[in-house]
Amino acid sequence: MKRALGLAILGAALITAGVAIGDTVSDAQKSVDQRVAAMKEMGGKVNEAFQLSATNAADARTKLAAAFAIAQSIPSRFPAGTADGDPGVTTRALPKIWSDQGGFQKAADGLVAALKTTDAKLAANDGAGADAAFGDVRKACGTCHETYRGKAK
Ligand code: HEC
Repeated sequence: MKRALGLAILGAALITAGVAIGDTVSDAQKSVDQRVAAMKEMGGKVNEAFQLSATNAADARTKLAAAFAIAQSIPSRFPAGTADGDPGVTTRALPKIWSDQGGFQKAADGLVAALKTTDAKLAANDGAGADAAFGDVRKACGTCHETYRGKAK
């Protein structure tokens, strides 16, 4: 009886250890978590810039600059081994990002260009132009997501 209990405790300890190992965040998952956080921050900065654009172009441009820096970093945030289907990662990043790197880079460049145009319109105090440019920024987000981002996990 004692022995059986001892084995049961040992078994429970092993299961606990297994859970602990499973909880260790892989480097690949860290990359994913960091880029998701960066994407969210970028979206937040674009929204803040948009809200400010009608009343305070200078502050809007500061927010936009932060979004711009993240946009430029997008291609570098997708190292090998971080695709949906790779072991140890939960991500919406489709393998197409790696099989079509030129297209992915182009989609990132499209966002960078749209942000640049938006900044130029704000600098020129062209409100209508800035509104249209913000629309193009959102389109650039969608263009990439449609092709390279899978379903929510
Ligand atoms: C060049 C491609 C590309 C562009 C441009 C892009 N994204 Fe993403 N975005 C992705 C990919 C791929 C993911 C999925 C990342 C992952 O799960 O590892 C993602 C994820 C996100 C997420 C995380 C939420 C989630 O779980 O999907 C947000 C928020 C987001 N993007 C917002 C934006 C916004 C806002 C813009 C435009 C200002 C933008 N993205 C532009 C490719 C892009």
